[in-house]
Amino acid sequence: RPVAIVAPSLLSCDFGNLGAEAKRMLAAGADWLHVDVMDGHFVDNLTLGPVVYQGLRRAVGDAVFLDCHFMTTAPSFWVEAFARVNGHSDQANMGCTFHYEVFGEDGLPLALELCRRIRALSARPAVAIRPSTPAQAVLPLLEEAAVDMVLVMTVEPGHGGQRFMPECLSKAVFLRERYPNLDIQVDGGITPETAKSAAQAGCNVLVSGSAIFGAGPNASQVIAALREAVE
Ligand code: DX5
Ligand code: ZN
Repeated sequence: RPVAIVAPSLLSCDFGNLGAEAKRMLAAGADWLHVDVMDGHFVDNLTLGPVVYQGLRRAVGDAVFLDCHFMTTAPSFWVEAFARVNGHSDQANMGCTFHYEVFGEDGLPLALELCRRIRALSARPAVAIRPSTPAQAVLPLLEEAAVDMVLVMTVEPGHGGQRFMPECLSKAVFLRERYPNLDIQVDGGITPETAKSAAQAGCNVLVSGSAIFGAGPNASQVIAALREAVE
């Protein structure tokens, strides 16, 4: 399995102190910071856009990898907007995860085009699948090496603090069998406990919001426990 990565989801942070919260997570041992971008259309929630993202980038500096999870109906538009304010000539410090579902049944050419565009920006392309989407759906993207990571959602996207859906992990098993070196990310209801089953299923990149932020000053212990589960 590829290297273990722990990515706290800023969705559960104190947004009144976004920059400080981001830095606190880095000091607590976070590898990446997970940035949930919701547009009020793809999901029934609204988070942040390029203006706030730019503030976050300035707060943490260029060395930090910001793992953007676009839960938006128009990922191509928002990827461009975020890339413009990311603050670098090359966007290698930005992950761009879009949802497979937004392109629909005949959407493979559009999805491939978006992946090519993300690579042209030097950012890191990834595709996410919600609980009802089968893993087979993303095989054409993997066959073309269009993405570096698949995000297997273990809750319905839209909100933090939901119950983990273990039945989604069979998709990670399916992908891991076929792609031993692929980064497989899991997001939704991840705690040190559920992380163990996610790791067994083949996931190596853990996103966790409420479990980490809910621990308050003990966030570093939760991050360490999550890492231990996937290492
Ligand atoms: C949900 C988001 C997640 C969320 C996870 O739509 O994609 O990143 O923050 O939160 P927890 O870890 O609380 O389930
Ligand atoms: Zn997310």
